[in-house]
Amino acid sequence: MVNRIAQESIPVRKLYSGETIPCVGLGTFGSDKYDAETVSQAVYGAVKCGYRLIDCAAVYQNEKQIGEVLDRLFREKEVSRKELFITSKVWNDMHGEGKVLASCQKSLADLGIENIDLFFVHWPFPNYHAPGCSGDSRNPDSRPFSVEEFTATWRQCEKLVDLGVVRYIGMSNMTVSKLEAVLPLCRIRPAALEMELHPSFQQPELFDYALRHDILPIGYCPIGSPSRPERDRAAGDVADIELPAVRKAAESHGVHPAVICLKWAVQRGQVPIPFSVKESQYYSNLKCVTEDPLTVEEMEAIRREDQNCRLIKGQVFLWEGARSWEDLWD
Ligand SMILES: NC(=O)c1ccc[n+]([C@@H]2O[C@H](COP(=O)([O-])OP(=O)(O)OC[C@H]3O[C@@H](n4cnc5c(N)ncnc54)[C@H](OP(=O)(O)O)[C@@H]3O)[C@@H](O)[C@H]2O)c1
Repeated sequence: MVNRIAQESIPVRKLYSGETIPCVGLGTFGSDKYDAETVSQAVYGAVKCGYRLIDCAAVYQNEKQIGEVLDRLFREKEVSRKELFITSKVWNDMHGEGKVLASCQKSLADLGIENIDLFFVHWPFPNYHAPGCSGDSRNPDSRPFSVEEFTATWRQCEKLVDLGVVRYIGMSNMTVSKLEAVLPLCRIRPAALEMELHPSFQQPELFDYALRHDILPIGYCPIGSPSRPERDRAAGDVADIELPAVRKAAESHGVHPAVICLKWAVQRGQVPIPFSVKESQYYSNLKCVTEDPLTVEEMEAIRREDQNCRLIKGQVFLWEGARSWEDLWD
């Protein structure tokens, strides 16, 4: 018996068009830990529980299995396609002319849907590395960010909107200076910016920039990605669920610190997309935004925990001559 959360109790966020989306979504990147079958079963359970926003990507290698559970949910009349908001992303090896449409068509076929609600450029450069490769592997074809190359990829995304196969387009893993360079060149503006956001990595400048430009910030790794693969771990990384202000709030509210990270994210104004394959976790990750908010003082204490601690450094995308992963982030 699935615990269900009433839709009307879940707060929403507005896109620039006025359309609303839920204030929390479900991540679907199983890292190296959870296989496609396990992740898709979680999507099935999470939709039953009340999730309506599902964050997918071609590179997560599970869209086919997710498509199968979506089909089952539609057949069982659990939800209609219109009630869901499904994202996907073009991976770095599919930026070339004509390839973005091919990538989108593959995601549509795998997910078994006729359009994608929000389609992201996953990373702002075509630097490819094989899924699951080691942290020190480099591709000799990798190169720095180029406004011209990115704009050419974005033009292809705009065409997807013209074709009606995508409803909104978005950017991911951007910086303020990259946005400054490309936003004036967009015919169709990004509806959302997917960016790493958690208490120890709040990116206040980029976050405020997005809000000022009416671009919805979607926060990935909202719990600090405690199960991320080894290749994404580095000395000095902070564990968000261990932060004193997070732990203190967890004690006062009688919940897991993960839940505090999500309450904080939603009250701050970003849309977190926590990943979980465990029913008790994904249930509490959605339920927590419908009740018992953090106080102003708790919000402020968590704001002060920011340590500029980026977890997804992207070092595998570095090009020859780059000094360190910081070069990817300007
Ligand atoms: N655009 C991009 O470049 C990008 C990059 C990274 C991620 N993403 C997206 O963001 C999503 C979320 O990021 P993420 O998966 O890296 O990290 P996350 O959501 O911060 O962490 C997920 C992990 O936190 C634990 N957890 C979840 N809910 C919990 C709860 N209520 N209590 C205790 N522990 C809990 C689980 O660990 P256990 O499984 O060990 O219990 C789970 O695997 C991804 O799935 C993906 O969709 C996008």
